[in-house]
Amino acid sequence: MDVWRRLRGSRHLIPGAVIGVVAVGSVLGLPAAAGAAGTSGSQTVYHSTTAPFTVGATFATLIRDARSCRQEAARVSHPGPPNTGSPKGSSRVTCVNGRIVSYGNSAITYKALPRSYVSVGETLFEQNCSSCHLADAQGGPAAPSLIGVGPATVTLWVSTGLMPAATPLTTQAQPKPTRITARQAQEIAAFVTSLSPAAPFVPSVNLKAANVAEGASLFALNCAACHTITGAGDELAYGTNALSLHSQTPTQVAEAIRTGPANMPVFSGNLTDAQVRDIVAYVTEHIKHPTNPGGAGLGGVGPVAEGFVALLFGVGGFMLVCYWIGDRA
Ligand code: HEC
Ligand code: HEC
Repeated sequence: MDVWRRLRGSRHLIPGAVIGVVAVGSVLGLPAAAGAAGTSGSQTVYHSTTAPFTVGATFATLIRDARSCRQEAARVSHPGPPNTGSPKGSSRVTCVNGRIVSYGNSAITYKALPRSYVSVGETLFEQNCSSCHLADAQGGPAAPSLIGVGPATVTLWVSTGLMPAATPLTTQAQPKPTRITARQAQEIAAFVTSLSPAAPFVPSVNLKAANVAEGASLFALNCAACHTITGAGDELAYGTNALSLHSQTPTQVAEAIRTGPANMPVFSGNLTDAQVRDIVAYVTEHIKHPTNPGGAGLGGVGPVAEGFVALLFGVGGFMLVCYWIGDRA
């Protein structure tokens, strides 16, 4: 009591309090500022025009930031099929302020790109893309707008060399060797999505628990019509073609399934993440290195040919039985 009364009377009270508050603020604020510039993923606009250290505003900002990247895990329930590659209906990790860091499940985790990639990505975009897609990816006569496409679309097109297109396109973009590294593709994607946050994020596929047999039948059902059962690719209508599937990484295959490049359909609600994982395992581990799936050595040409052989022997055997029955009559 006595101490308090002495303190209240003291002329050091106000400066002391100010120093105390600033000290506490910087302890709270510095890790937050470091975190903001660091690798925590974010889909909110990155370029802040407010100067970082103006008193007053700063204080609230720093304290908000200190809380903003505390991560929370939550399961988001949403009407519609669960675990089909959307932040809605998946388990997700968000910052307390709602920014999504990642979503998905044990089959596929979709991760936001680090905010620190954005500024490098902006330069790369200006050098390689804005001639056609125009500044801020608005789109123009030579290329569509990229606003709202989501990071996985950008990383797929850039990492497989579909983009940057060499010349204005008349038909479909084709993959080609590219100077742009996988990391740079992500930096460009981080910049594009900083302009307008969107999903899907970049998928990371956990192939450990994959069921390749399941993947094979899902592939036959959903993909073989265009890409052929061996994944060699095929001509489609109007000079377009479904690409060969012999060279993509698991991430790229999952990106293609979830984003549907060009004429390819987007597979979202109709395939769960576990099913996509199984298809990815089939495409990247089996098609590329066909091990003999069993039965007679048929050259690994896949289930249609093998089914055909089975049919041939089956029908043949049936005909023999018929002859035998006919003979007895
Ligand atoms: C010479 C012009 C040109 C350049 C340079 C170019 N693009 Fe494109 N881009 C196009 C055209 C044309 C399309 C449409 C192609 C199609 O639909 O098959 C396209 C499509 C895309 C798509 C798919 C959009 C969607 O909605 O599916 C992405 C993503 C993309 N470009 C990203 C980039 C990035 C990133 C760069 C720079 C690394 C780049 N592009 C450079 C012309 C260009
Ligand atoms: C209606 C036909 C069609 C179906 C069905 C289809 N695709 Fe595609 N796919 C395409 C076309 C066309 C392209 C080439 C897009 C381009 O060049 O811009 C493509 C491209 C791809 C690519 C390569 C993308 C790249 O940039 O290299 C992958 C991987 C792929 N498809 C996987 C699949 C899988 C897996 C399935 C089944 C779940 C599937 N596709 C179903 C038509 C199809």
